[in-house]
Amino acid sequence: MLLLLSLLAPLLVVPWVKAATNEADYTPIVVPLAVRGPYLGAYLTGRKEKDLTRMDPHFWTTESLGWQGLLRVDGVTCNWMGNLTEWTPCETTELHHTTAETTFVLTPPTSTVSLTASFLSPVTPADLFRQSLPFSYLSLSVSSLDGQPHQVEVYSEINGLWLADEEHEEMEWESIEGDESDWVGLELRLKNQRPFEEAYKDAPWGGGEVISTDRILHGEVFYAAQTSSSAGLSPVRTTWSAGSDAMATRRKFASSGVLSSRSNTTSPRPIRTRSDTNTSRVLDEPVFALAHSFGSISPSTPLAERSALLAIGHVRDPLVKYMTSDLSTTSRGPDDQPRPGERTIFLRPLWASTLPSTSQALSFFFSDYPTQKKLSDEFNNKLYRDAVKVDGKEYADVVSISTRQVFMAMEAVWDESEEGVRGEAGLEVYSPVTGKPIPAMVMLKEISSNGNVQTIDVIAPFLPFLLYSSPTLLPLLLEPIYRYSTSKLYLPIPPTHDLGDHYPNATGHNDFLYANLPIEEAANMLLMALSGMKVAEPEVVEVAAHVRAKHWVMEKVRGGKERVGWDAVVGEGRDHRREGARMAWAQARKRYALFKAWAQYLEDECLYPGDQRTTDDFFGSAANQTSLVVKGILGLRAFSEIAGELGEEADRDHFFDVAEAYRGKFVDLAISTDRTHLLGTYGNQTSWVTHYNLYFDKLLGLSVFPPSVYEMQEAFYPTVAQPYGPALDSRFLNRAKTDWLAWAGATCSPSPPALSSSASDPNPHSSSCRRLFLDALSKFLRKDDNAVFGDSITPDEGWSVGFLSRPVAGGHYALLGREVMEQVQREREERHREAEKSGLFTLLFIFGGVLQGLVCIKVVMEWRQRRRGGYVELPLSGPGRGRGRRRSAMDGGVGVWGVEDSPRSVFELEGRDRESEADSGESGRDRWKRR
Ligand SMILES: *[C@@H]1O[C@H](CO)[C@@H](O)[C@H](O)[C@H]1NC(C)=O
Ligand SMILES: *[C@@H]1O[C@H](CO)[C@@H](O)[C@H](O)[C@H]1NC(C)=O
Ligand SMILES: *[C@@H]1O[C@H](CO)[C@@H](O)[C@H](O)[C@H]1NC(C)=O
Ligand SMILES: *[C@@H]1O[C@H](CO)[C@@H](O)[C@H](O)[C@H]1NC(C)=O
Ligand SMILES: *[C@@H]1O[C@H](CO)[C@@H](O)[C@H](O)[C@H]1NC(C)=O
Ligand SMILES: *[C@@H]1O[C@H](CO)[C@@H](O)[C@H](O)[C@H]1NC(C)=O
Repeated sequence: MLLLLSLLAPLLVVPWVKAATNEADYTPIVVPLAVRGPYLGAYLTGRKEKDLTRMDPHFWTTESLGWQGLLRVDGVTCNWMGNLTEWTPCETTELHHTTAETTFVLTPPTSTVSLTASFLSPVTPADLFRQSLPFSYLSLSVSSLDGQPHQVEVYSEINGLWLADEEHEEMEWESIEGDESDWVGLELRLKNQRPFEEAYKDAPWGGGEVISTDRILHGEVFYAAQTSSSAGLSPVRTTWSAGSDAMATRRKFASSGVLSSRSNTTSPRPIRTRSDTNTSRVLDEPVFALAHSFGSISPSTPLAERSALLAIGHVRDPLVKYMTSDLSTTSRGPDDQPRPGERTIFLRPLWASTLPSTSQALSFFFSDYPTQKKLSDEFNNKLYRDAVKVDGKEYADVVSISTRQVFMAMEAVWDESEEGVRGEAGLEVYSPVTGKPIPAMVMLKEISSNGNVQTIDVIAPFLPFLLYSSPTLLPLLLEPIYRYSTSKLYLPIPPTHDLGDHYPNATGHNDFLYANLPIEEAANMLLMALSGMKVAEPEVVEVAAHVRAKHWVMEKVRGGKERVGWDAVVGEGRDHRREGARMAWAQARKRYALFKAWAQYLEDECLYPGDQRTTDDFFGSAANQTSLVVKGILGLRAFSEIAGELGEEADRDHFFDVAEAYRGKFVDLAISTDRTHLLGTYGNQTSWVTHYNLYFDKLLGLSVFPPSVYEMQEAFYPTVAQPYGPALDSRFLNRAKTDWLAWAGATCSPSPPALSSSASDPNPHSSSCRRLFLDALSKFLRKDDNAVFGDSITPDEGWSVGFLSRPVAGGHYALLGREVMEQVQREREERHREAEKSGLFTLLFIFGGVLQGLVCIKVVMEWRQRRRGGYVELPLSGPGRGRGRRRSAMDGGVGVWGVEDSPRSVFELEGRDRESEADSGESGRDRWKRR
């Protein structure tokens, strides 16, 4: 039967409804070029035309970088990248961008050939090892346009501004070759290496204040080109030059089409030397250049013989200084309590676990190009399909352009610490090289707004991105916070805001001085923890094989029933969603006491918040902010859910009741007297806010706040909307946040119309409330006379004001995140119903004798033993998997699985749920049935 079905299957597959174009067809606010990490982020920024042939790329801070290019056709040279005024600029004839790649097609004034330059910063959200490689690709290819053969050479160079903004900094360089002569690279570094130090400059507002330039005074920059490919030696000849002056190097290329392949030995030299008498004159500027001679190319020249692959990277090792406790010494803390000593450890890059040298990393990166390109394209295509499904093409463009910079804020680390190697939670990432797990964490820099490490209220906004595309990343980002919060170097109450000021020093706040956002952060942590647990079932509730086979066929027959969300296999056949859920569950068990302390804090404080801040502090702090109350109540409810999942029934009930009681009081206090909207602060009838925190209620399917509240808000927002959406807070009508526009839009009814819409008819169901927010967001991202892409905007005219290139743009995934979570919930309910329906085993258990039960327990135990630790996608005909649930139902679901390393299964939780339902008869707590 099964065999027959699987043979028929290919015939039943219906092609996807209609492929929408999978790339954006407009010039976005900023054009990403090489965007990989906090110190590698190059964009074209500038008002209106983002013209590669006439402007210099910039670091995300908007400081200039030297990245220039020349194209030489039949001996005539034009300028294809950067602002080299000595040569005629090429023309940009095409510009495309996808989630990971920006492609320009450039032609010289003669239009005889074209140069295609593709800047690929791979986006591989399920493969954090690949994502951890600190390089970005530039692929160049030339074509003859007029059918004639042409002699073509392409040149590109970088300068020392990739290391630091300060032109007086001295640098050194060398050229290196891949171990198998597979590439040639130019390496530059500051002579004076200062690990973990960023450079500081005078603040533009004066007053003697200094601010970080966000450039690190540590590490090396690489500019390299592949010299042979797997297909054999390429006929393309690559020459290079390191450390010679810019003008001399460019002129050498323009006159001969080749470079000397020599390093200038006058080293170290400053990044730039200017004339004392005329500071706009640059006297000397060492550059690092690569040139590719393609020979004579004609329409019949194979692509491999007219292309070159380059890489640019910023490499540091170690990456982050991290605070841990040293239990061998104790002292007294500021609270006069004994506390352990401090011990900082150095966290190394994840890739270094498998690739012992930068040179090996670069070899891997070059040889991996086809895979990285394929993975990035697949992610892009899936993202477009899903986003079009939930809200149409414009929304797809929004999430696509918002993605690369999410990874710019993060660095995955290889966690060699005691806790990493022997930790119970098993926080791992798989190496694609060895297939083995590597203990890992992911560190985050609060880009632009501050520079703090692991800022909780920066991670929370991009939670929707994590749930959609990278569920394993969420626990890896939260782990360093859990560890520090339980290190005893810090009191967990009030919760921390970040792990250190300033990246890459994750050295904590052992002085016990707290940022003033405790409700915000406590609730964020609980809500994120629960999200991670709910992103997938760590185990599959089993239904009989024939029922699953039936589903599978039905799905194929119905056609187009693709799940929303990025699915991928990691390591040895593990699904990254379930891996993420597994880690989140393990963390929840381990950190339960910490969670409870946070929940108790919320119980004490969140109904009448003191003078605290919310995430966006441009409004200053205030008492009784309703946005905080909403978040606090949802945080309390999240903890109740976590407690329920872990079998802590007393806590579950207590915090459920507290959340319910607070919700009741909140509704009385927070609704305006004319009953038109929720107030911004209790009692102030002229106040209001955009209630983005309600998103958690929808995301997690909690239904804490009644539909009437949502309906009221939906009717209210249009009355305060400006052309670029409602302001965030009535105290400051000239500020909105793009992440919160997306979050608020995703609270509007109806829930995303899964599967129903096609590309031609994108959102037939979308409410006007949702349109209000999401149209504002896409309009902003198309406003290309903005020079920067910040997430803080003016709602009247759509100008970007500060908060540049931050990862919170991952919050634009709000609709997708919600759809993913609702899908998991629907599937869980479906499986639950199916499991109930497949009555044979149920009958066996309800009516069967003790003996049969014991036999089943033994079978299940053995079976679990065999597949312990693996959340491997099971074959269709696994052993009878309905048994676990009933076993736990029978033994009460307590303790039996506790002896194993693997997390408690959903089986026993279901069992417990069913019990508690029977005990209390209170269907309100039955989360599987709740709507
Ligand atoms: C290019 O450089 C020239 C001369 O240095 C300058 O006047 C011009 O403003 C620059 N163009 C851009 C787009 O930066
Ligand atoms: C990190 O800490 C070191 C030593 O305390 C300090 O010199 C450095 O400036 C810090 N780095 C940053 C970015 O604050
Ligand atoms: C190396 O660069 C320096 C500074 O630009 C220059 O004076 C010198 O002539 C160069 N050396 C060679 C061999 O080109
Ligand atoms: C200063 O140098 C710039 C660039 O080389 C040049 O255009 C300008 O004329 C010079 N100014 C003076 C006063 O010499
Ligand atoms: C907060 O609101 C409550 C209820 O309206 C009120 O009793 C309390 O005084 C308010 N707190 C502050 C600091 O305004
Ligand atoms: C009430 O809210 C308005 C609008 O947000 C604000 O301007 C005003 O200062 C608030 N009044 C008080 C007493 O806080």
